[in-house]
Amino acid sequence: MTKIIKGGTVVTADRTYKADVFIQHDKIVAVGPDLNHDADHVIDATGCYVMPGGIDPHTHMEMPFMGTHSTDDFDSGTAAALAGGTTMTVDFCLPAPNQGLIDALQQWYQKAGKARTDYSFHMAITWWDKQVFDEMPKVVEQGINTFKHFMAYKGSLMVNDDEMFASFSRCAEIGAMPLVHAENGDVVAFLQQKLLAEGNNGPEAHGFSRPPEVEGEAANRAIMIADQAGVPLYVVHVSCEQTHEAIRRARQKGMRVFGEPLIQHLLLDENEYLNDDWDYAARRVMSPPFRSKDHQNSLWAGLAAGSLQVVATDHCAFTTEQKRMGLGDFTKIPNGTGGIEERLPLLWTYGVRTGRLTMNEFVAATSTNIAKILNIYPRKGAIVEGADADIIIWDPEATKTITAGSQKSAIDYTVFEGMPVHGLPRMTLSRGRVAYEEGEVKADTGDGRFVERPANPPVAKALSTWKELTAPRRVERAGIPAGV
Ligand code: URP
Ligand code: ZN
Ligand code: ZN
Ligand code: ZN
Repeated sequence: MTKIIKGGTVVTADRTYKADVFIQHDKIVAVGPDLNHDADHVIDATGCYVMPGGIDPHTHMEMPFMGTHSTDDFDSGTAAALAGGTTMTVDFCLPAPNQGLIDALQQWYQKAGKARTDYSFHMAITWWDKQVFDEMPKVVEQGINTFKHFMAYKGSLMVNDDEMFASFSRCAEIGAMPLVHAENGDVVAFLQQKLLAEGNNGPEAHGFSRPPEVEGEAANRAIMIADQAGVPLYVVHVSCEQTHEAIRRARQKGMRVFGEPLIQHLLLDENEYLNDDWDYAARRVMSPPFRSKDHQNSLWAGLAAGSLQVVATDHCAFTTEQKRMGLGDFTKIPNGTGGIEERLPLLWTYGVRTGRLTMNEFVAATSTNIAKILNIYPRKGAIVEGADADIIIWDPEATKTITAGSQKSAIDYTVFEGMPVHGLPRMTLSRGRVAYEEGEVKADTGDGRFVERPANPPVAKALSTWKELTAPRRVERAGIPAGV
């Protein structure tokens, strides 16, 4: 099976140029102007941009959380992904208390069997003892090189500093990278109880209980702990200037820290929680919460400056009925929002079309940077010979208004309802197959494949070399033996 994409403009993280793309089976085999290869299928990309498929490194499909499960599973969630130009998703494997990592991984493989996109997992460290320590390298052997740590959700997913330092140190040994959800879970738990005691039980109190300082403090702490452990760090869902500032400062000191804003935090603000419709506000409850315009400006600036690298979604979709579990007590509203179908069109519309991002920065933030960070570049995140043929044919003139009625997600609303977008995928190819075209998802449930991610990405190798070179060393003194 061969295909040729003709007449489009290839846009990658570093180039924009007129070129055709020739695909054989699941791989790109040639890229260049006016290719005259014979192909079984010709895809006309006149007037379109030809870009690497999006990678969403932060999703929670069918996630067991807060007494329920997120409603989008790997079937509906990855259908939504393809419709929005995303061809790979990375979900979080969450071991239950005392459950082994490999055991939990079996459950996630099962669930992900329904995926229509390619996928990978981050392994969460939700508890700590020798078994977890021993199993971490086995997880890496299975092609998972990232370990997630929740500094919030006290009493369920949260880990303490000693556990985090032990796990980060283990990551350093095995060439893996830690991720953190940075919020001070102790302070959040205190503020939640205080607010409830004061009669503040509505969804707006969710925002009040998680101020930016609580996030910035945790991000700083995780950054310093990672530095002491000698390991790179990836901070998920960066929502505010305090966290961005911590990342920026660390990077300027040479620390290897990455930051991931979400499309939600870039575009939706804290006033959403003041809506007088309880359902409207509760649907937008996620952690960290939406912030003010100043924080949004900081995140946009970080993407332009390179101090923030990746735009994700944290896609974790609960229905209105599920959100109502928190009527009368905001701490029981399942935390999470969707966005996997809207991420690229929104970032294009409010990033590229406004001039806040170049097209190349758009590709970097939605695909290439995370492919490098996760050590799957250039198999993913690139349009080059030998790469997987995960490609979006992007129509910059297509428009629509986002509405729940036409989304692929299985929930009954979208937090982006009514927002116009200008720029949409006309077609999404996943490993050479047409996975989405003109409103219709063509990939079947189960078409996705697990993508192995090898340990020791270049940044981890460089950092461990530097840490070894600069490690404390004993000064040899005449007549004073070691150990005295
Ligand atoms: O509110 C959120 N973000 N829900 C999903 C779990 C997490 O913290 O990422
Ligand atoms: Zn064919
Ligand atoms: Zn989180
Ligand atoms: Zn998340």
